[in-house]
Amino acid sequence: MDHLISLKEWSPAMIRQVLDLARDVKAHPGKYRDAMSRKTLLMIFEKPSLRTRLSFEAGMTQMGGHAIYYHTGNSPMGSGKESISDSIKTASRFVDAIMARLFKHADLLEMAKHATVPVINALTDDSHPCQILADLQAIEEKKGCLAGLKLAYLGDGFNNVTHSLMFGGTKMGMHVSVGAPAGADFSPRPDVMADCERFAAESDGSLFVTDDPVAAIKDADVVYTDSWMSYHIPKEQEAERIAKFMPYQVNAALMAHARPDAIFMNCLPALRGYEQTAEVIDGPQSIVFDEAENRIHVQKAVILMLCGAV
Ligand code: CP
Repeated sequence: MDHLISLKEWSPAMIRQVLDLARDVKAHPGKYRDAMSRKTLLMIFEKPSLRTRLSFEAGMTQMGGHAIYYHTGNSPMGSGKESISDSIKTASRFVDAIMARLFKHADLLEMAKHATVPVINALTDDSHPCQILADLQAIEEKKGCLAGLKLAYLGDGFNNVTHSLMFGGTKMGMHVSVGAPAGADFSPRPDVMADCERFAAESDGSLFVTDDPVAAIKDADVVYTDSWMSYHIPKEQEAERIAKFMPYQVNAALMAHARPDAIFMNCLPALRGYEQTAEVIDGPQSIVFDEAENRIHVQKAVILMLCGAV
C-alpha cells in the first residue's frame, strides 16, 4: 500500500511523476472529471484549515467523487473511546482513501499501519508534504525548472513546512538555504539536516543553514517564509517568538539581496507585518495565490496516483 506520509520516503522519481501528472490535471481537468467516480475520500481534521479542506473537497468533486469532512472533536477516536487502529480499520471498509491533519505525526503513522486504503498527510507536527508538492509545481511553472535553483527559507526553521521544503528541495536538486535563529527551538532538526545533506549529495543540490538572514537569501531565485505562530504554538510564546524572528522578516530591504527576478512564496495563512511585509506579499514578485491554487491540482494528482486511477 502506497501512502503519502512525508517527502522523506518519496523518491525523486515519485515526486517527478506527481508533478508531471499535476501539470496535466491543471491543463486538462476535463480528462479527469470521472476518474474518481463513486469513490470517497475521508478527511480527518484535528486542526483548523482553509486551503487543505477546500482543495481536497473540491478536488474530489471535480473528479466525480465525494469527500467526507470528519472533525475528531465529534468522533469516538477524538474522545478516546475508540483506538486509532479500530477507527481506521473500520473506515477502510467504507472509503477509498484517507487524508488526515493531525497534531502528532506518530498518530498518522499509526493510521497508515492499520489502513487498507492509501493515507495522505494533510499536515502533522512533523511534515506538510501536500503543501510542498504544490510549491514545487508553482516554482517549476514560474522558473521552468527546479534543479539548480536557490530556494531560501527565512524564519521558523523548526517547523513542518521547513522540514518538508528541505526534503522536497534537496531531493529535486535545489540549493536549499535556511535562515533561522540559532538554537534547537528555531533551527531545523539535526536528523532532517543529516537526511537532506544525503539527498542533496545524490541530486547535485545543496543544503546551507545559517542564522544570518542576508547570507541565507543572497542571490536566491525563490524566497519562502511561513507563519511564526504555527497552529500548535501557545499564545503566551507569541511576544518572545516575534522578537526572535523579526530579523528574518521578508521585507523590501531583505528581498533586495535576492536575485532581481526572485519569486516570493508563503504557504498561507500569512500575517502582514510579521513574517513578511505587505509590500512583499502584495507586490509583483509574490506568487502566493498561484501557490495556493496548486494545492488542488497536485492533490488531485496524489489521489489519482495512490488510488491507482491513472
Ligand atoms: N497552507 C495550508 O495548509 O493552509 P490551511 O492551514 O488553510 O489548510
